[in-house]
Amino acid sequence: MSTVSSTSKPVVWITGASSGIGKAFAKKYALHGSDLILSSRRKEELEKVKDELIEISPRSEILILSLDLAKEEELADKAQEAWDWKQRIDVLLNNGGISQRSLFLESDMSTLRTLMEVNFFGSLALTRHVLPKMVEQGSGHVLVTSSVAGKFGTKFRSGYAASKHAIQGAFDSIRQEMYEYNIAVTLICPGPIKTAITQNSLTGDGKAFGKMGDLHTQAMDADEMVQKIWKKVVARKEEIVVSGFKERFALLLKRIAPRLLNKILQRSKVV
Ligand SMILES: NC(=O)c1ccc[n+]([C@@H]2O[C@H](COP(=O)([O-])OP(=O)(O)OC[C@H]3O[C@@H](n4cnc5c(N)ncnc54)[C@H](OP(=O)(O)O)[C@@H]3O)[C@@H](O)[C@H]2O)c1
Repeated sequence: MSTVSSTSKPVVWITGASSGIGKAFAKKYALHGSDLILSSRRKEELEKVKDELIEISPRSEILILSLDLAKEEELADKAQEAWDWKQRIDVLLNNGGISQRSLFLESDMSTLRTLMEVNFFGSLALTRHVLPKMVEQGSGHVLVTSSVAGKFGTKFRSGYAASKHAIQGAFDSIRQEMYEYNIAVTLICPGPIKTAITQNSLTGDGKAFGKMGDLHTQAMDADEMVQKIWKKVVARKEEIVVSGFKERFALLLKRIAPRLLNKILQRSKVV
């Protein structure tokens, strides 16, 4: 069993680090003295994030490890590469993902599958490959960026909500199995955050939506979101909800008056 020596820094692996919430987390972890592994598909964007991180935290060492969460067959090797870098991974933040902007009846099955592959199976596979190494090192923290869409479904999000509900169930179960190994599992459930998520969302035929939605233009930005929840992240809380009043109220209704929430959501036009 290996331990972090007094001279080594924690190693944090973040997927979806090229943009939005993942990039904001990368800055925060770097400022707090971590070494970072940055992953997503676009290597050139990751290089830009790396340059920014070196500016704000010159002591942080950074590895760029590009990967596609939809290519499950490559993720075992990626996890091995991530581990081989420093022979440890203290934090795995499964954050990479895509959203959806299509009615169910206008969504190809292949689009619904892509949402599950990237958001759910991609994160699940990386976690499956990293956890044995965390067990071996005797500690670890796995986080997943779920969503309030992991708690209730809305129009235009059938595949997205499915992938986030699947995350909630799987990682709640994994958490229970990991207690005895000193490994924490944190589910982060944001409401709308101002990132490129809407532009990158899939329409029914799998093409990008390409524009910003009304829901996100007024929303909290990603740096502010990370700042707001940082203490809870460090405290390894089991679940962290970060949203505006509307989503918090919806979550309350889901628990105490689900039929009323359903009625409200049926009338909602927000894309
Ligand atoms: N913004 C919100 O309102 C909101 C709310 C709740 C939850 N979330 C969740 O937060 C996470 C981050 O989203 P964001 O808001 O920061 O959006 P974003 O700016 O679009 O970032 C998405 C990230 O995921 C990466 N990614 C997408 N597909 C990938 C794939 N196949 N393989 C590997 N990486 C992939 C993207 O990088 P590349 O393009 O370089 O691959 C990018 O770094 C997502 O899981 C999202 O569901 C967001």
